[in-house]
Amino acid sequence: MSEEKEKEVTETSEAEIAVHWGEEEYINPPRSFVAQANLTDEKVFERFSLENFPNCFKEYADLLDWYEYWHTILDTSDAPCFKWFVGGKINASYNCVDRHLAKNKNKTAIHFVPELEEEKVEHVTYQELYVRVNEFAAILRDYCGLKAGDRVTLHMPMVAELPITMLACARLGIIHSQVFGGFSGQACADRIIDSGSEYLITMDAYYRSGQLIDHKEKADIAVAQAAKEGQTVKKVLVWQRYPGKYSAATPMVEGRDVFVNELLKDTYGKRIDPVPLPAESVLFLMYTSGTTGKPKGAQHSLGGYLSYVAGTSKYIQDIHPEDVYWCMADIGWITGHSYIVYGPLALCASTVVYEGVPTYPDAGRSWRIAQNLDVNIFHTAPTAIRALRKIGPDEPAKYNYNFKHMTTVGEPIEPEVWRWYYNVVGKGKAAIVDTWWQTETGGFLCSTVPGIDPMKPGSAGRGVPGIHPIVYDNDGNVVPPGAGKAGNICIQNPWPGMFQTIWGDRDRFVRQYFERYCKDPNSKRWQDWPYMTGDAAVVAADGYVRILGRIDDVINVSGHRLGTKELESAALVVPEVAEAAVVPVKHEIKGVEPDMYIALKPGFEASEELAKAVSAAIVKEIGAIARPRKVWIVPDMPKTRSGKIMRRVLGAISNGTDIGDVMTLANPEIVEAIQKMVQGK
Ligand code: PRX
Repeated sequence: MSEEKEKEVTETSEAEIAVHWGEEEYINPPRSFVAQANLTDEKVFERFSLENFPNCFKEYADLLDWYEYWHTILDTSDAPCFKWFVGGKINASYNCVDRHLAKNKNKTAIHFVPELEEEKVEHVTYQELYVRVNEFAAILRDYCGLKAGDRVTLHMPMVAELPITMLACARLGIIHSQVFGGFSGQACADRIIDSGSEYLITMDAYYRSGQLIDHKEKADIAVAQAAKEGQTVKKVLVWQRYPGKYSAATPMVEGRDVFVNELLKDTYGKRIDPVPLPAESVLFLMYTSGTTGKPKGAQHSLGGYLSYVAGTSKYIQDIHPEDVYWCMADIGWITGHSYIVYGPLALCASTVVYEGVPTYPDAGRSWRIAQNLDVNIFHTAPTAIRALRKIGPDEPAKYNYNFKHMTTVGEPIEPEVWRWYYNVVGKGKAAIVDTWWQTETGGFLCSTVPGIDPMKPGSAGRGVPGIHPIVYDNDGNVVPPGAGKAGNICIQNPWPGMFQTIWGDRDRFVRQYFERYCKDPNSKRWQDWPYMTGDAAVVAADGYVRILGRIDDVINVSGHRLGTKELESAALVVPEVAEAAVVPVKHEIKGVEPDMYIALKPGFEASEELAKAVSAAIVKEIGAIARPRKVWIVPDMPKTRSGKIMRRVLGAISNGTDIGDVMTLANPEIVEAIQKMVQGK
């Protein structure tokens, strides 16, 4: 095996991972929710059974308007690059905007909430969205000369102009590649180069934690870096946070940088017909980090992706056109693409785009937004839930909002945290879905169907309709549900939302996601190509899937494999604990030992007693084998801009190895404080 290949194939866990995190009791979704749910017919699982695959997905395609109806639902001739709805012609911009005008033109499509509370919330109606998408599409076509199949890199913050830009690209078949606004200029450059973009679309500035940040400076770095590596960016289109006013300190580069708001003066009133495009054309690229090496561009299709996000938004998110839906994710991630922009807008919902930090200027902000916009569907990640629980455990009760439905996504949620979400945020009145999926999968893989299935804290649920998970051990044997063993979770069948390939790297696509469990590399049958997700999971007898984390997140202590999440969940049982992160520390005899990092809820002080209580809780919940080497009570966790705890940094501190570059963290200063505590220097 080549070195590159060896690194690419994810290190997998052994088949027999000891799973100590117990199954929780069922909790039924509130009756009031079920009474109004989009999907309450249990027969859906029969309709979407493997016997009825792939024809079942016609139901999802039929949620959309097609210029030409498709003739072949699934083409497997180039397996594992599957093509959905072949022969169909469709346009995403038309489906998310134009088709809603006849009945709903005056309805709000996007509520843009600026971070500063003294700034007015902007309510963009479907008619206004239509006008703005058309006018910007005119710039893309007539000023930039872009056409279907060209790639454009977007590096935009959370503003209404971001979905407008995406939908304008989609109108013409231009492939957008939105880079998370918090990423550096260098990260943006890497994506410009890989996608071969000749245009960069950005914004001058945006608010984060009360500061108006100069964002244009990143464009200068990105363009310079890309040029060094041979990719010329012809123009940088700069939206203005305050139209007509430039809010960045970095000067505009003459001849290269141009204000969108200037160009719009020439396209005012223009209408651009949506281009009917083949269903299997590319809608967008979404870069995600691989096991190693350069980021890979997950290439998402038009017809399949849009059908899948429309279907899952309707049945799992339970979006009705009259709902106000707020997903707190950033549009720079797949969650934002699928479940802020394309899914909700395809269903004619009102979707909230919030510019800033959920806890700015205080712990009540999120609940004020929910109250003021009358949000009834709320979607966020465990990391945000933990943060909100930590700094304002009593805040939700102070506000008068009514959630019917809430989502958690992105990492396993500890049952303790789930219960706070359910009881305090949802006030016991909202159904919760724990949706497990990935950048690559386009939409949900496992979740309960909220109008049908009971919830189980800590478990995502079974495969959503049409998704058939299977767990393999390292030798390719199936680990059956209820076996009490973990393994590598795969999906037996393709589905419309699945990415088509890695942009420009089909070999890597096949190698990384299929090679390991492929039954016959020459096969053209989908049955021979299970999709390997790279997660470890345990499936209970009832089919509910519990994700243990990435397969490389498993800690092997004396040959016992412990999911990091299990340890963290055990620590969270201690009432004072707000957040927990465990990392492996090298040990001469045991291989590794867990080191436990803890952040406390407000009002609590670190003490030896608390550290002992955490240790005891882990021993109690899991066993002496899991006893941490040390419990470090830290003032805060090092976090990425998107809020994920950087276990890598903690691991390096614990092991005394190089911590690498921490400047891209949201709170780099915390690293030094923790280092002092742990290493005494
Ligand atoms: O390990 C799983 C975890 O996040 C990974 C995918 O990350 P990303 O591509 O950034 O997409 C995040 C948004 C879908 C998965 O391989 N993950 C995602 N959702 C869950 C989860 N782990 C447990 N429970 C979830 N609900």
